[in-house]
Amino acid sequence: MKVELTGAPPLELDCSLLALPVFEEELADPKKGLLGEIDRRLGGHLSAAASDEEFQGKPDQSLLLHGLGRLGAARLMLLGLGPRERAVQEFPRFGFEPLRLAAGKAARAAQKVGAARLGLGSPRLTGVWATATRALVEGALLGAYRFDRYKSEKKKAAPQALVLSVAPGQERSREVREAAELARAVAAASAWARDLVNEPPLACTPSRLAQEAKDLAREAGLACEVRGPREIAALRMGMFLGVTRGSAEEPRLIRLSWVPKGPAARKPPLLIVGKAITFDSGGLSLKPTESMVDMKTDMAGSAAALGAMRVVAMLKPPFPVHALVGACENMPGGRAYKPSDVLTACNGKTVEITNTDAEGRLVLGDVLAWGVSTLRPAAAIDLATLTGSCVVALGPTTAGAFGPDGKVMDGVLAAARAAGEDVWRMPLTETLKEQLKSEVADLKNAGERWGGAISAAWFLKEFVGDTPWVHLDIAGPASTSKERGYLGKGATGAGIRTLVEFVRAWQG
Ligand code: BES
Ligand code: MN
Ligand code: ZN
Repeated sequence: MKVELTGAPPLELDCSLLALPVFEEELADPKKGLLGEIDRRLGGHLSAAASDEEFQGKPDQSLLLHGLGRLGAARLMLLGLGPRERAVQEFPRFGFEPLRLAAGKAARAAQKVGAARLGLGSPRLTGVWATATRALVEGALLGAYRFDRYKSEKKKAAPQALVLSVAPGQERSREVREAAELARAVAAASAWARDLVNEPPLACTPSRLAQEAKDLAREAGLACEVRGPREIAALRMGMFLGVTRGSAEEPRLIRLSWVPKGPAARKPPLLIVGKAITFDSGGLSLKPTESMVDMKTDMAGSAAALGAMRVVAMLKPPFPVHALVGACENMPGGRAYKPSDVLTACNGKTVEITNTDAEGRLVLGDVLAWGVSTLRPAAAIDLATLTGSCVVALGPTTAGAFGPDGKVMDGVLAAARAAGEDVWRMPLTETLKEQLKSEVADLKNAGERWGGAISAAWFLKEFVGDTPWVHLDIAGPASTSKERGYLGKGATGAGIRTLVEFVRAWQG
């Protein structure tokens, strides 16, 4: 979708659907201002419909009207933003997420009615044009995403262009233009990641993931290195090899890197690790069907890590950034790893397997240990659909953040807020660490039921050494079963925006 910024007022936009985010105050007297102008053109139809439909401009409320040939646009959509004063106070603290949601809802409506050009008005929130533009463009582009590759009958054509009306003159501001550019990059990276997560596991295999990473590297100007089973064995990643044993698909170890030119190349890098179980059947600790159907999404952490690198390539930060992904399937089979097996990680630690469905931490542990010892990063962040327990704790839209106090934790939480993503800090409760003690090995891979997200984080911590580290459990927000704002059903791209904001704020 093309993005046009203009200083022209909303009613002059050349578009088929005009979407206007509005404050409650504007609905209190819909005969005044821009709404008043529209109401007059529609012969009082706007104020009448608003009153009939009880549209008061509250958050999540929306009203779709026909333009009756008197508006330029064939359709008009009003999107509630709540009271103006609250927006002024709160929007900046949450990355303008309400604007992202409103713009996304408009894009999904444009999609449904087959509008070729989506016009969008910016609410008057003075002084924050760049950040508001970023959220509006991001929301609209994210909302226009859909996955219909396997539908014989495609839905109506997606909108071809977004026309965003900003205050006169702002369309020429460098800050505003750069914000729109960044929003485009983030939305493109999210679509790339969402596609991979939405692809069935038959298509999105470990080797496909590696091929996608290579293609991305070539397009974006990144370095990419892919290793197969023999090389993974040579690295002595016994946990990774254990998980992949039951699968007919070969595993892949993928590294995607941004390295700046000159002396900055030798700065301590940032390390991002993503979980990439392209299908998690549970292994011999087999999942029941209902829990298994969603498990193609068990590589969402890696899609976010690799997708974010697309934006990193554009940001060109003055320090190296590496994404590492250990990709494999978790399957039962004649050669599958078994409960009571003991595996040896690449850092020498031995692990007793008590549940083959606690596979993510095994692959992540090997990849994290290898990453921190070979790359010596200043900080490591991992993203993983790691535990159902985290979804129980925080609900399906919030990611859990685990790790020691420090500037990486602070940075991740601040980045999430700036990006409008829901991330909540979780504790590393000391008493839960005990659960990983094993009678036969250095530790076991699964603890008890209660606090499962925390014991999983404790497990990972055994493999990061002293490296400042944050683990993001995105099992909930990685995909959604409900449409909301800029999200349709399926993969969400969770984590990408937080990673991008973290890299933007990180002082290498
Ligand atoms: N991939 C799952 C976690 C998951 C569950 C992600 C629901 C998304 C939605 C993970 O590999 C898993 O199976 N975890 C187990 C761990 C347990 C066996 C210790 C879990 O959370 O139940
Ligand atoms: Mn599992
Ligand atoms: Zn899993």
